[in-house]
Amino acid sequence: MDVALGIDIGGTGMKAAPVEVSTGRLIADRFRIPTPTPSTPEAMAEVVRELDLHFADITGGTGPVGVAFPAVVRSGVVHSAANIDPSWVGVDAASAFSAALGRPVVVVNDADAAGLAEMSFGAGRGRDGLVVTLTLGTGIGSGMFMDGALVPNTEFGHLEFRGESVERYAAASARSREDLSWRDWADRVGEFLEMVDRLFSPDLVILGGGVSRKPEKWFHRIDTRFETVIATMANHAGVVGAAMAAV
Ligand code: BGC
Repeated sequence: MDVALGIDIGGTGMKAAPVEVSTGRLIADRFRIPTPTPSTPEAMAEVVRELDLHFADITGGTGPVGVAFPAVVRSGVVHSAANIDPSWVGVDAASAFSAALGRPVVVVNDADAAGLAEMSFGAGRGRDGLVVTLTLGTGIGSGMFMDGALVPNTEFGHLEFRGESVERYAAASARSREDLSWRDWADRVGEFLEMVDRLFSPDLVILGGGVSRKPEKWFHRIDTRFETVIATMANHAGVVGAAMAAV
């Protein structure tokens, strides 16, 4: 069985599970540890080590490891820090996590990882054309796929809206921070999707993140010129995509 450990690092939680990469199936329950504050490289590397140790009875502490990281990541190096400690910028995350685990670790952008999983095993399976996958969480993450091929490190959440990143306005965290009704928040997501439409004219947009588990609260308000669907892998997309990136 082709198993890799997938680790998904988010603004509030760091989650992991061993994944059968050919099917996207988790072979053990996901394990979560809150993201440390401040989320420095040292503190996060320690949590990555704890997550790996948690599954040592299954993985034997060996085998591929992939990390989905909430920033621009090129060749393992972090190039932005919107929702993590600023000291991450310029850090080789792949080397830092590899040193913590004592074996190679692959690091990719979290939304790219979630998109990869969604395109292989979820709502994007078999879909050609221009597909955009969005994760609405602490920030807004984006994955862009042309005929199934990923264009990495798109940052739709950082399109400018009223003088700041649109993720401040329309991420799931904006709803709690500003105590918005589902209706008002969904309308903000609609405005964001209009920007995406003006720039990219996608064929399909897949909306994921924690809010994709409660579509009845908001999804009926979303009305777009392109096809828009809810992600089907919900919480697991990041972990599965991280594992896929490792093999
Ligand atoms: C980051 C992205 C990330 C997204 C979701 C944004 O603030 O810039 O790289 O994918 O949050 O975590």
